[in-house]
Amino acid sequence: MRKYIRKQPDDIRFMFNLVAHRYNLMNSLITFGYDKYWRRTLLNQTRLPNNGRVLDIGTGTGDLLLEIVHDNTDIMCVGADFSENMLNVARARRNADSVCWLAADSLSLSFQKNSFDVVMSAFLLRNVGNVTSALKEQYRVLNKGGNLLCLDTSPFRHTWLRSMLKPYFFGVIPLLGQLISGHGAAYKYLSESTDKFLSAEDLAELMSSIGFRNVGFSKVMLGSVAFHWGMK
Ligand SMILES: C[S@@+](CC[C@H](N)C(=O)[O-])C[C@H]1O[C@@H](n2cnc3c(N)ncnc32)[C@H](O)[C@@H]1O
Repeated sequence: MRKYIRKQPDDIRFMFNLVAHRYNLMNSLITFGYDKYWRRTLLNQTRLPNNGRVLDIGTGTGDLLLEIVHDNTDIMCVGADFSENMLNVARARRNADSVCWLAADSLSLSFQKNSFDVVMSAFLLRNVGNVTSALKEQYRVLNKGGNLLCLDTSPFRHTWLRSMLKPYFFGVIPLLGQLISGHGAAYKYLSESTDKFLSAEDLAELMSSIGFRNVGFSKVMLGSVAFHWGMK
C-alpha cells in the first residue's frame, strides 16, 4: 500500500483559508467545469432518505450540500470544515441558510455515534494527516445501515500517463493558482497530494478493513478521479 504524505493540519487549514476567496473559480478552471458534474455523480450513488440527516465533512464552500438542499427541503444537512474562510464563503451562498455550517476537525468530530444517515466528503481525504482515523470517525458518526460516499482525486497508475500530464498538474495548475488566487504553492500542493494519495484500490481496501460493507469504487478522467461508497 502506498504511504500517504503527512502534512501538518495547521498548514492545510492556513492554505485553504488563503485560497477560499478564489476556490470555486479555480475549481471550475482547472477541472474545465467537471467538478460540478463529479459531485452530482457522487450524490447519485445513494438515495437520500426523506427527513434524513446528511453530514458533509471538509465541506469547503459547500457545493455538495447546496446541491442537495436545492432539490430536497426535508433533509437536514450539516457541513463541517476546519477552515473558517471556506465556511464563510459557503455561508454567503444562495440557500446557505438551509444548511448548518460547523467549524470541525474531521479527525475528531463532536457528534455522537450513529448520528447521520449519509456521511460524505469530496476532495477531503487526501488532505488529512491520517486517512484511517478520518474514516473511523466517519464510521462512528454514521447510522447502522447508513451510507458513506467519497469523491477524491487519485494518483495516475501508469507512468507514461503521469509523465504526459505532469506539465499540466505541476506547471499549468500552480501557474493558474498563482495568477488567480495569488497562491501558486497551494495549487502545487494539490497536485503533489494527489500524486501521494492512496490508489482507489487501496482506499477501498482501507474502508473495508475499518468495517464498511459493500465497498465499491469507480474511476473517471483516465483514473484521476475516484468515487467510493460503502455502508455501515
Ligand atoms: C479541496 S477542499 C474540498 C471542499 C469541498 N468538499 C469541495 O467539494 O469543493 C478540502 C476541504 O477540506 C478541509 N479540510 C482539510 N482537512 C480537514 C480536516 N482535518 N478537518 C476538517 N476539514 C478539513 C479544507 O479546509 C477544505 O475546505
